[in-house]
Amino acid sequence: YSSYIYSQIINNNGLPVPEEEKIMWGHFREDFLWSSSTSAYQIEGAWTADGKGLSIWDTFSHTLGKVANNDNGDISCDSYNKLDVDIGLLKQIKVSHYRFSISWPRVLPDGTIHNINEAGINYYQRVIDALLAANIQPQITLYHWDLPQALEDEGGWLNETIVDRFSDYADLLFSRFGQKVKLWITINEAYIVALLGYGYGSFAPGINRDPSTLQYVAAHNIIKAHAEAWHVYNDKYRAEQKGLISITINSEWAEPRNPFKQEDIDGAKRYMDFFIGWFANPIFNGDYTESMKKYILERSLAAGLEKSRLPEFTPAEIARIKGTHDFFGLNYYTSVLVFPVDFGNTLNYDADRGVAFIHDRTWLDTGSSWLKMAPLGFRRILKYIKDEYGNPPVIVTENGLSENGPIDLNDEHRSYFYENHVNQLLKAYLVDGVDVRGYTAWSLMDNLEWAAGYSERFGFFYVNHSHPDRPRTPKASVSYYTTLVNCNGFPD
Ligand code: NOJ
Repeated sequence: YSSYIYSQIINNNGLPVPEEEKIMWGHFREDFLWSSSTSAYQIEGAWTADGKGLSIWDTFSHTLGKVANNDNGDISCDSYNKLDVDIGLLKQIKVSHYRFSISWPRVLPDGTIHNINEAGINYYQRVIDALLAANIQPQITLYHWDLPQALEDEGGWLNETIVDRFSDYADLLFSRFGQKVKLWITINEAYIVALLGYGYGSFAPGINRDPSTLQYVAAHNIIKAHAEAWHVYNDKYRAEQKGLISITINSEWAEPRNPFKQEDIDGAKRYMDFFIGWFANPIFNGDYTESMKKYILERSLAAGLEKSRLPEFTPAEIARIKGTHDFFGLNYYTSVLVFPVDFGNTLNYDADRGVAFIHDRTWLDTGSSWLKMAPLGFRRILKYIKDEYGNPPVIVTENGLSENGPIDLNDEHRSYFYENHVNQLLKAYLVDGVDVRGYTAWSLMDNLEWAAGYSERFGFFYVNHSHPDRPRTPKASVSYYTTLVNCNGFPD
């Protein structure tokens, strides 16, 4: 296992590896789910094919200056026309599941069920059938960021009517695909949708009118929309279709920069409360965290407002939202070291949580500046989920890394990353008793990395985006990941 030796060397410059970072040998549960993932806008292309409506990412990427190199997803990996090729890739990595998303405007061009695009439905029907024929189970995300532009024109996630629009859309998908699909994810990374879409404005729809408030409004509607979709499944479909449905929550793991300083310890906890807790607390425990409520209220009053910028759930809403999960879907990528900062009178999300962060110098770089390799944080966030959210079954719905710059198919760094992260997952399972059920690697192939365009490559397969055929070529990590899948963990 060359990557094992490699990891020992680059891990600690040839010095003995600390106990907690050593590779532990062992296996996951027998029915463990092994998967890899993509999302519609990032791979499909065919942006106007067969009656598809526009999404906010079509609009955003066509606005000059929003995406690196002005890249867009018009063609992307052309997966819409390459179903057989992509099934072949999945067979090659031997996964039991494939996580992909449905493009809302491909199915409902104006976002509403008054206008169903049967060609779009047929496309996903073909994807599902092809997967099942290859003995791969579909794991479908309903919303992976490509909101119909027509709904954004009415306010998007800021308009409360989105809750009904989303549950209608979910209902349609359950009714059309639910006989064959047993694993559903309502919304991917609500945190990013709310904060980058409606707060910072760096992702579609690119709104930053009022970064003190709008991300909280968007998040509030996202949480309600998720809960309603869960109830639709639970009330109307579960008995017959017998599947599982939940949300995917992304979070970094926060460590105090100085573990002996109480302010840093408190800051790290608050960072978690504002990140994973923003969505997991309402859905698993019933309401926003106390620290979010306290900090945002205090800062709102200090700014002369009459009430908090964080919306409140009514008791009836709390009752409706709490418990709308069949598992904890976790996207984990990186960790941070946190320390408190007083932002003065600034009003925005960073000021509200009152902390800043750095990355540890020993964490290895990847092709994305925000992503440093921190596998230990993965084990710690898993334990945190067990302790904070009642030991739910956990499916890791994403974990992975990128490279940028010259093409190098010998991606030793990726094998190193997966070896160490899957190993920390194993320790969470065997040592910490976390109820770990599945692992999904991001991504099956290089694709449009949102505002970074094609410059950051997360795939097991390299895709040449300047070639008209968009050929896929395996990187070296394909065979390493396949070994993990085949062994259901680490070889005996
Ligand atoms: C999270 C998102 O769900 C996915 O779309 C994105 O490409 C990866 N992280 C990498 O940033």
